[in-house]
Amino acid sequence: MNQSHELILIVDYGSQYTQLIARRIREQHVFCRIIPPGQLTLQHLREERPKGLILSGGPNSVYQPNAPLPDAAIFSSGVPTLGICYGMQAMAHRLGGVVQRAEKREYGHAKITVMDTDGLFDQIKPVSSCWMSHGDSVVTPPEGFVVSAQTDNTTSAAIANPGRKLYGLQFHPEVAHTEEGTRILRNFLFKVCGCKGEWTMASFADEAVSRIKQQVGAANVVLGLSGGVDSSVAAVLVHKAIGEQLTCVFVDNGLLRSGERQQIEDAFGRHFHITVRYVDAASRFLKRLSGVADPEQKRKIIGEEFVRVFEAEARGISNVKFLAQGTLYPDVIESVSAWGGPSATIKTHHNVGGLPRDMHLALVEPLRDLFKDEVRELGALLGLSEELLHRHPFPGPGLAVRILGEVTEERLRIVREADLRVEQEIRAANLYRSLWQAFAVLVPVFTVGVMGDERTYEHVIAVRAVTSQDAMTADWAKLPPEVLGRISNRIINEVKGVNRVVYDVSSKPPATIEWE
Ligand code: XMP
Repeated sequence: MNQSHELILIVDYGSQYTQLIARRIREQHVFCRIIPPGQLTLQHLREERPKGLILSGGPNSVYQPNAPLPDAAIFSSGVPTLGICYGMQAMAHRLGGVVQRAEKREYGHAKITVMDTDGLFDQIKPVSSCWMSHGDSVVTPPEGFVVSAQTDNTTSAAIANPGRKLYGLQFHPEVAHTEEGTRILRNFLFKVCGCKGEWTMASFADEAVSRIKQQVGAANVVLGLSGGVDSSVAAVLVHKAIGEQLTCVFVDNGLLRSGERQQIEDAFGRHFHITVRYVDAASRFLKRLSGVADPEQKRKIIGEEFVRVFEAEARGISNVKFLAQGTLYPDVIESVSAWGGPSATIKTHHNVGGLPRDMHLALVEPLRDLFKDEVRELGALLGLSEELLHRHPFPGPGLAVRILGEVTEERLRIVREADLRVEQEIRAANLYRSLWQAFAVLVPVFTVGVMGDERTYEHVIAVRAVTSQDAMTADWAKLPPEVLGRISNRIINEVKGVNRVVYDVSSKPPATIEWE
C-alpha cells in the first residue's frame, strides 16, 4: 500500500519490545508499521518505499535451525537499516560477521562508551547507561563495519557501516532505561533516514477519510456501536467520511450500566447527527440467560445473541456492503506476530461488534494502525467529549459477568444501582482518571445484618477498583478509606437488597480483573 507520508518498517522478530519501538517512532511524528519476518522482501520494500527499516530483537539465536533471517539482498537495497539486539546479530551474520554465544548473559543496565560520534551517535554523551538483554554477541563485525560503542562485557555494543547506512545496536534504545535511547532513535530517523517528522493526527484523519470514501464508494456501512472508545471514534471518523451512508446499531442487551443509552443518544444523535438504530433486545437476552450460571456459557449465549440481533438489524438496511469496526493496532499485531502463538484461553472475550461470519460484509477498520492513546487523541480531534474518550473499559457481556450465578432482572437492578454509586463516588473523589476500572460485583451469598431493630438477610456487593497499563496485569487500587466508606454507606443505604459491601484486594495475576 502506497502512502503519502514517510514510513518506517519494523520487522518483528519476536521481541517483547517491538510495540515499544513503534511507539517511540510515532512519538517523533514518523509513521511506522510492524511486519512479520516473512514480509521482508525486496518486492515489499519496492511497494512500500520505506524511509528506513528496523529489525527488532527476538528470542532466537542466528545459529538455530529455523532462525528467521533476512535475505542478504535487503542490505543492498539502499534502505537505511537499524538492527537492534537479535536484529543486529541477524544482519551481522548475513553479511559475513561472526556471532557467538557470550560467556555471560548480559541483562539489565550497562555502561556504554561511544567510540564514533558520527551518524547514530551524533551529540550522544561519551559514556551513558543502556539496557541490555542478550545471550549472543557479535564478536567480529562484517567487512566494512566499524565498532562504534562498547560496554565492559560486549566489545561490539554498536556497529556501523555509514557508507551503506547500516547500523546495529546490541542494547535497546527503545526502553526508558537507555539514557540516550530517544536521541539515538531520533538520529536514525532524522539524520540517517532523512525523515522530516510530519506525521500528525490531523494528517492521519484526513488520509483515513479519503481512504474510507474510496473503499466504500456509494455503498452503505453498518457499525456496532457499544459506546466504548474504539467503536465511538470509528463511528465519528466513518461518519465524517461518508455521512448518511453510515448506520450505527446500538444493541441494548439489558446488561448495560445505568444511563448508557441516554449517553449514546446525546453524543451521537444530538451532537454528531449520526444515524443510530437502537435495538431493545433486553428480553431476548434475559430469556436465553435464564437459569444459566456458568460464566463461559453466559459469554457464549451473549456473543451468539448479539450477532443474531445485529444481523437482523443490518439486513433491514439497504445496500449494506461493509461492516465498520474499531479494531486497534495491538489486535492486528497479535494476529500477525511471528511468535505470538495463541495463549491459553482464560476467558473467551466477547467484543460487541464482532463480525457475523456469514454476512459476507467487507471490513472497514480505520483505526487498525493506531494505539489506544492515539485513538483517544484522534477522538478528541474529531470532537468527542473527554468523558467519553476516557471511559473505563466495559466488558462485551456487560453486567452479566459481574453477577455471579444466574442473571435475573432483580439481580441486574442491584448490581446496576451499586455500580452507579461506585462510579459517582470515584468521580467525586477525582480518582476516575487514575483508575483502569472501578465497579460493583454481585456476590451470590446472603449475609445477616441489622437495620433498625430488624434482622436482615441480604446480598453482598464486592467493590473492585484496579490500576493497570494494559489489563494484562493489574493491581488493586489503594483507595482512601474515606472513599471506600462513602461507597459502602451509599450502596447499603440506597440500594435495596444489599446489607454488606466488601473490597476486593487481589491483583492480576493470579486473580483477573472481572470476577467471571
Ligand atoms: P480480565 O477479567 O480478563 O479482564 O482480567 C481484562 C480486561 O478485559 C475486559 N473484559 C472483557 N472485554 N469482552 C470484552 O470486550 C469480554 O468478554 C471481557 N471480559 C473481560 C475487562 O473488563 C478488563 O478490562
